[in-house]
Amino acid sequence: MRFISSLFGILASTSFIGAGFTSAFAADETIRSLAEERGRFIGTILNSEWFNDNIEPEFEEIHKTQFNVVVAENEMKFDATEPKENVFNYTKGDKMIAYAQANNIRVRGHALAWHSQVPGWVNDYKGQKEKLLKVLKNHIDSVVGHWKGKVAEWDVVNEAVNDEYNAGWRSQGSVWYEGIGAEFLDSAFVWTHAIDPKAELCYNDYSLEWGMREKSKASFVVEQVKRWKKNGIPITCVGTQTHIEIAHETTPQNVRDFAKALAELGVTLNITELDIGFPKGSAGKLGAADYAKQGHLYRQFMDVFLEEPNMGEFVIWGLTDAHSWLDEQQGKTEGLLYDKQYKPKPAFDSIMVSLKSHPAAEVKTPYTFAKDTTANDTTVRDTTVTDTTAKDTSNAIAKLRGLQKFTIHLAGRTLFITGTSAKPSTVELFDMQGRPVFSAKCENGSVDLKNITEGLYVARVHAGSASYMQRAVIK
Ligand code: XIL
Repeated sequence: MRFISSLFGILASTSFIGAGFTSAFAADETIRSLAEERGRFIGTILNSEWFNDNIEPEFEEIHKTQFNVVVAENEMKFDATEPKENVFNYTKGDKMIAYAQANNIRVRGHALAWHSQVPGWVNDYKGQKEKLLKVLKNHIDSVVGHWKGKVAEWDVVNEAVNDEYNAGWRSQGSVWYEGIGAEFLDSAFVWTHAIDPKAELCYNDYSLEWGMREKSKASFVVEQVKRWKKNGIPITCVGTQTHIEIAHETTPQNVRDFAKALAELGVTLNITELDIGFPKGSAGKLGAADYAKQGHLYRQFMDVFLEEPNMGEFVIWGLTDAHSWLDEQQGKTEGLLYDKQYKPKPAFDSIMVSLKSHPAAEVKTPYTFAKDTTANDTTVRDTTVTDTTAKDTSNAIAKLRGLQKFTIHLAGRTLFITGTSAKPSTVELFDMQGRPVFSAKCENGSVDLKNITEGLYVARVHAGSASYMQRAVIK
């Protein structure tokens, strides 16, 4: 608001200016609201700091306004929910469910059968097939039963496939596989479905974004999904974790191909743990071009997500670079949408641009909930004349109305101003936080924006004594 009043110092005495400006820079439009209009879910984790009430106040505010699907970073894993045999701890998970319900957020349950974050007492039963089957079934019965109807989707099995180029089950280092064999996966799906038949059930893994080459993880998973579907195993979704690096430029296309292969099998593909990290050594040396590149990759994933009809959730593994497993464990850094001060990065704008570039009416959803196809496509609205004063009847506004007689229109990287009797003199661009990023004199009714980084902006045009603003998507 500080910016708003200074920007409009000249005309700021009228309430109209404040109202018009606010709607242009909308806090009313979030990536959550845009995703919802498109029948899709965009989400991020709740991290341990949140569960322990040790998180900055901005976190929750951003979390609930920008995201509509949530997952616990660690608090629903086996070691958290059943720390001792048949002794269950649901306190933290319950806290998340209450938060999700209060804010109308969908819950992903993560994860039931996984080789990692398994408590020591389970490993004590190493190699004992009958016992391990009982342990796994009891865990699923209890945990899924406790949250029945509250968890929309479970990662039933996590990371059961070997690393890349070595297609096959993870045969080493998994207490489940070593003790039970591959049937632990089939059983886990069947048991989960028996307890909560309405929940969606996913197989979740990393490196699936490397493509469907021979012996790749993605190809192996497609083969298993075929087998599961043929055998009536109740799998409904695959999760591609998608922990990638800035250099992994081909991964969005790989995810698209993977989605298409799963669509043929009637299975949804969700992006479940996206982060796009820089090498840790680059911390402090990153510039605008690096963040723009990161934004571009995020946007490509969002484009794929919105264009493939069998994709439903787009979940990022963290909200702010201040709290991320990338720094703590992965030798990577700054892979998320918000920086350490909770400021949205270019990646955030890129996601918004992608959402706005895909009209709601054209985005299909794999979910059965009613999609509001009457929702307006704001991208279209942005390129037409909008009289923001129309609903206001005050005198001050009536006076201003006559000034708003021109249209700004973006074609490629050129901004055209048409329909004004006064000659347009200057064009300014502001980022979505209201910071000025560009200003140029207007020659022949147009301005070249070729040096502007892709993103979402508000453009202001001056012509004579009038000025006019609207949102501009630059791509
Ligand atoms: C990670 C968490 O972010 C860390 O806090 C924890 O120490 C280890 O697990 N794949 C998964 C997630 O399925 O559960 C992992 O989460 C990241 C990789």
